[in-house]
Amino acid sequence: MNELAIPGLPEYAFGGDYNPEQWPESVWQEDMALMREAGVNLVTVGVFSWAKLQPTENTWSFEWLDRVLDLCHANGIKVDLATATASPPPWLGLKYPSTLAVDETGVRMAWGARQHFSPSSSVFKKFSLALVEKMVERYAEHPAVVMWHVGNEYGAHTHRCFSEESADAFRAWLITKYGDVDTLNERWGTAFWSQWYSNWDEVMPPRKTVYFPNPAQQLDFKRFSSDAMLELYKAEVEVIRQRVGRQIPITTNFMRFFPHADYWKWSENIDVISDDWYPDLADPESHIEGAMGADLMRSLGAGRPWFLMEQAPSAINWREVNPAKPKNAYRRWSLQQAAHGADGILHFQWRASVRGAEKWHSGMLPHSGTDTAVWREVSRLGQDLKKLKPLLGAKSDSQIALLLDWSSWWALELDSRPSTRLTQMEALLDYYRPLAQAGYSVDFAHPEQDLSRYKLVIAPSLYLISDLGIERIRAASAGGTNIVFGKFSGAVDAEEGVRVGGHLMGLRDVFGCYTEEWHPLVAGQTEEVLIGSNRGEVSGWTEHIRLLPGSAIEGTFSTGDLAGLPAIVSKTSEKSKAWYLGCTPNRDMIASLLEAICIQSGAAPVLYSVPQGVEVTKRSNENGSFLFLLNHTGVEQSIEIGQASVDLISAESFVGAVTVGAGEVRVLHLP
Ligand code: GLA
Repeated sequence: MNELAIPGLPEYAFGGDYNPEQWPESVWQEDMALMREAGVNLVTVGVFSWAKLQPTENTWSFEWLDRVLDLCHANGIKVDLATATASPPPWLGLKYPSTLAVDETGVRMAWGARQHFSPSSSVFKKFSLALVEKMVERYAEHPAVVMWHVGNEYGAHTHRCFSEESADAFRAWLITKYGDVDTLNERWGTAFWSQWYSNWDEVMPPRKTVYFPNPAQQLDFKRFSSDAMLELYKAEVEVIRQRVGRQIPITTNFMRFFPHADYWKWSENIDVISDDWYPDLADPESHIEGAMGADLMRSLGAGRPWFLMEQAPSAINWREVNPAKPKNAYRRWSLQQAAHGADGILHFQWRASVRGAEKWHSGMLPHSGTDTAVWREVSRLGQDLKKLKPLLGAKSDSQIALLLDWSSWWALELDSRPSTRLTQMEALLDYYRPLAQAGYSVDFAHPEQDLSRYKLVIAPSLYLISDLGIERIRAASAGGTNIVFGKFSGAVDAEEGVRVGGHLMGLRDVFGCYTEEWHPLVAGQTEEVLIGSNRGEVSGWTEHIRLLPGSAIEGTFSTGDLAGLPAIVSKTSEKSKAWYLGCTPNRDMIASLLEAICIQSGAAPVLYSVPQGVEVTKRSNENGSFLFLLNHTGVEQSIEIGQASVDLISAESFVGAVTVGAGEVRVLHLP
């Protein structure tokens, strides 16, 4: 039996958020009929239903939800049941203002939108857990419910709170971490600017200050805020698990590269990793981010199948301009998520709302009804995904990992840096893009995990590395894994203190070099790097690198202040090789460098000789291997796959070369 993300749903999952409380019951029957027509087999119910379930502090109303779940069950539609805690009702805020989040200036948030709760509010926790108790009591055994959905997009709107109660919780978190205030003083460097604390009561969240707040305080507050939300999530999970058995998984929906929650830590507590993806249609490279985010989700679940929990069938409503999805994009990007390990494709939302802030957000069932392009595309996808059943649970095998650590990301993007123009996303994309374009399967990994199974580990920019991270990287390198570090890496320890004695401390012998001084470039400034006889351009960042014994110069600055000094250095050790890139190479330069590095590392792409703009991924399980060919170009493409295959969706057979229409996708079964 293949590994199923949801044991109670042995099919490829397809569906979306279903918010029937927005509609008269007479519409529900039609919903069911149309869901069946579109191939929907899973709906997420109740995400924003708290006020309808508990209209006042002492009244409850579950009958309508009983009828919804029974109706779903009667129609063979499974339910991912939300705990309904994502948007507290107005009465809670009115009677208990301490449940409302407070911003850094001391302003308390009002109800009237959603997710306005303070993660550290004990009253919010009490009321939300009481709701979860009721939900679980009533629906633990409901035959339609195959998964529980805790909260919704934790941190999307409120990711931190500066209230008195949050300050207390932050202090408690710090006491657990540091033990005594002197240790905190030392780790935060409070000798600076007279910030020294004589007792815990003086320690605050980084509220509005006149100038840069202490960076270690900011970093710890980010960690604390992620943990505070995670504690809430875990408290709900605990209530659910008191009555619900392990065969029913629990999830909460992530937001890809979301900057406010440490998803490595979160994912340890989530049975089915699920994710929401709303590509920016103004970005011509949305498909690169589409692949990168999906790879992150697969990696967060250690390779387990994950779910695309939300996407829009067409337009969204929250960017400046919200176009309809371009032709074929909805289908191709959906299947792209399957190509990278998703075993469920769901949407926000089933039926487009007619009132409220999201009425111009597309739904699977548009305002204009079923005689629409959106409906036809949705139903076509729903029917086609049924045919992907054989690939459920299929895994990908990546030989390359990109390192991502939220602490390092947070520290990199604080204020008071050598350059505030560096972003973690840009650094990741700089390296992910050429690897994806060359057809490599890429995992994401945390620097503190065992990295030794990879042939090549790349840290596009790992500004902060803990002592354990250094140990893991050294161990992987000693064991035969090749390592690449990009700019501004290895600068600070876990609490953002500089590791003195030349940057890259702890890893200097691995790379055969260290950085004496950072040389960020100003906007518009570019410099040149010579690699052999090739000239490459760098922008944004350069470094004054110093060589250590045993190193080799791979690239040299040929212009600017650093002309004649190394820009890229490598060192070959007994079992592996390591490269340090002290610059931001332009696209061509990084692509050719990585190509050479992959070859030297013995990493192989999924397929060789794939036309540009065609993405290829492979998943395998006991039914064989499945090759996804995604044509992101506007013309038909032919790809030589070197063996016989059958398209799972169209049932066409191929002997060697396979054609893929413009913007189309094939899912080939290689028996
Ligand atoms: C998020 C939320 C949904 C909805 C969509 C709109 O993903 O989880 O409730 O608001 O955004 O794009």
